[in-house]
Amino acid sequence: MPAQLPAGAKIRYGGDHNPEQWPREVWDADHAAFDLASIDTLTLNVFAWATLQPDEDSYDFALLDAVVERTVAAGRDIVLATSTGALPPWLAHRHPEVTRTDFQGRRHVYGQRHNACPSSPVYRRLSAELAGRLAERYAGTPGLVAWHVGNEYGGFDGGCWCDLCAAGFRDWLQQRYGTLDRLNDAWNGAFWSHTFTDWAQVVPPSMLSEHWRGPDHTAFQGITLDYRRFQSDAMLANFRDEKARIREHDATTPVTTNFMGLFRPIDYHRWAADLDFASWDNYPPGPREHVRTALAHDLMRGLKDGAPFWVMEQTPTITASRDVNPVKRPGVLRLWSWQAVAHGADAVLYFQMRQSRGASEKYHGAVLDHAGRTDTRAFREVAALGAELAALGDAVLGARTPARVALLVDWDSWWLAEMTDGLNRHARYVDTALAYYRALWQAGAQVDVVPVTAGLEGYDVVVAPMLHVLHDGVAGRLGDVVARGGSVIASFWSGRADEDGNAFLMDVPGPLAPLFGVRVEETDSAAPGVVNPVTLIDPDREGETAEAATTHVESVVSEASLVFEVLVPQGAEVVGTYGADFYAGRPAVTRHRGPGGGEAWYLGTALDDAGTAWVVRRALARHGLVGPYADAEDVELAVREGADGERTAFVLNHAEVAVDVVAHASGRDLLTGRDVAAGETLHLAPTDVVVLREDAQTTRR
Ligand code: GLA
Ligand code: ZN
Repeated sequence: MPAQLPAGAKIRYGGDHNPEQWPREVWDADHAAFDLASIDTLTLNVFAWATLQPDEDSYDFALLDAVVERTVAAGRDIVLATSTGALPPWLAHRHPEVTRTDFQGRRHVYGQRHNACPSSPVYRRLSAELAGRLAERYAGTPGLVAWHVGNEYGGFDGGCWCDLCAAGFRDWLQQRYGTLDRLNDAWNGAFWSHTFTDWAQVVPPSMLSEHWRGPDHTAFQGITLDYRRFQSDAMLANFRDEKARIREHDATTPVTTNFMGLFRPIDYHRWAADLDFASWDNYPPGPREHVRTALAHDLMRGLKDGAPFWVMEQTPTITASRDVNPVKRPGVLRLWSWQAVAHGADAVLYFQMRQSRGASEKYHGAVLDHAGRTDTRAFREVAALGAELAALGDAVLGARTPARVALLVDWDSWWLAEMTDGLNRHARYVDTALAYYRALWQAGAQVDVVPVTAGLEGYDVVVAPMLHVLHDGVAGRLGDVVARGGSVIASFWSGRADEDGNAFLMDVPGPLAPLFGVRVEETDSAAPGVVNPVTLIDPDREGETAEAATTHVESVVSEASLVFEVLVPQGAEVVGTYGADFYAGRPAVTRHRGPGGGEAWYLGTALDDAGTAWVVRRALARHGLVGPYADAEDVELAVREGADGERTAFVLNHAEVAVDVVAHASGRDLLTGRDVAAGETLHLAPTDVVVLREDAQTTRR
């Protein structure tokens, strides 16, 4: 389904506001402060179920009415949440089935949040009922711009393993497989005597059944893979329940829920069609995670085919959930907020507007601290950013990313590769995707992160890190890219398993082998820190020996680690060879040229950053896709293009030092109003941001 975006005239700015937790005089103080910070959009009612429904038979909207009224009176737009992300105590007390049974098999009693069993009929009935009543009451409220269903689905243990879920799982399996024969075949049940003769024999894979050590150690990957798909679908059904009830009363206001970026438990691609627009909560795990964050933004934008998304939450200062919670350094909030906009965000919102008085997020950063001060560094930065966003107006609203590069992300591959015995537990899916993404990012390529089901027609370069599971058609679509002259790059552990998670009964990389012109003879693994030097020699240089090449700039020695696939070329040229161990001199990296001039690169090992960049830049360069700031480490270029073709280039300095770059285009810096000439020196202070509205036709390549 195509995206339906909330209407607006600027990048929205604001966040979670919980006036129901505060006396009325605080509401006035809040709005006075919001005026100072150009706050225009407030997310209301995220966790108020207990107030809205004091018991099973009564609803009380008086407080929310007042909150909504006050927000409307202040002229701010509203994102209305449905409050179903945290249960009220009476509900769990009266219907113990609504709480979850965890992965250890322990039935939980009341507590925390994100704690409902997705298969519970009572939860499904009452959450949908609440959403329906809210929609009935508040549809048509002036300034209501979006509905926010639930909150961070899959948070807290990623699922439920109760008897209701077991029953739901059996139904789901019957739908998927139809017969037990097909199920037994998919799960390879003949192994360890797992031939099921009645659906009732199927139980959820947990620490009481197939698992040991934890979620990634399962005796039957097929069972666990299906259970993850089922849980993702069960939570999606919860979202659909609520959305359907909202739609009975409000046919048009866009509906979303806040995702979490690179979040493993939920397959966001299975959800994407049901959201009207994508939104996510951006809490980088550390102070220097701007590349990972860029990947997450691009993944979220890819959910709705490149349409703009929202940052539903970020902290202005600190998080509260980590062991160490450092404050965002001066300028970093601004830098990361513009980074979000640069990657396609049409809203930059906070959690939260006023700091909580108690409970687990009492010290989580907020726009207003416990004292409600507006003269703090944090508030001043929030207000300054608000003013900048207001001044930008609608300049990039709705604009898209002109990407010629796609990076494939696939939850099935992520899940399966990380739960499979016999590989290497230290080689992780996101690390691998990030290694390739980092090389693309540093080269300044604009990247769409898309599912394996996506059409690849618009891309010159397609990168498929750890494409472990091959879904129907993906090998063919990658082949089409090469056939029309494009470049494809795949990593180790690709083409290993079918959609059931079983190995292909053929050479690795399975159905991808003809495209890459290579087969994997064996796969060695090593602990982190063990290095095998791989010499990469430019395949376009004629007649160079490995010895000569090590001293030549056209080659590089990369420290490869973790996984070492020994490759046998079957039509591909050898680009990289191992330097150590019994497979020294054997191929590690290959390139296969197609008849149409396209190229398929296969990297059978985890090259270090320099080696990965060496390969990735060659592929990009062939299509003229290396960006103008590729050599300025930590300088990011992200571009948005309006429907009218107008280009806005965001140049972001993530370095802790000042950097000079040569402007790639003429235009006007929309933040300062300064005119920039192509070729002039742009002096970027640490955390600096330039938002360059390019003059038509001035881009220097
Ligand atoms: C999440 C939740 C919020 C809040 C923040 C704190 O994103 O959605 O309710 O807990 O984390 O960082
Ligand atoms: Zn359950």
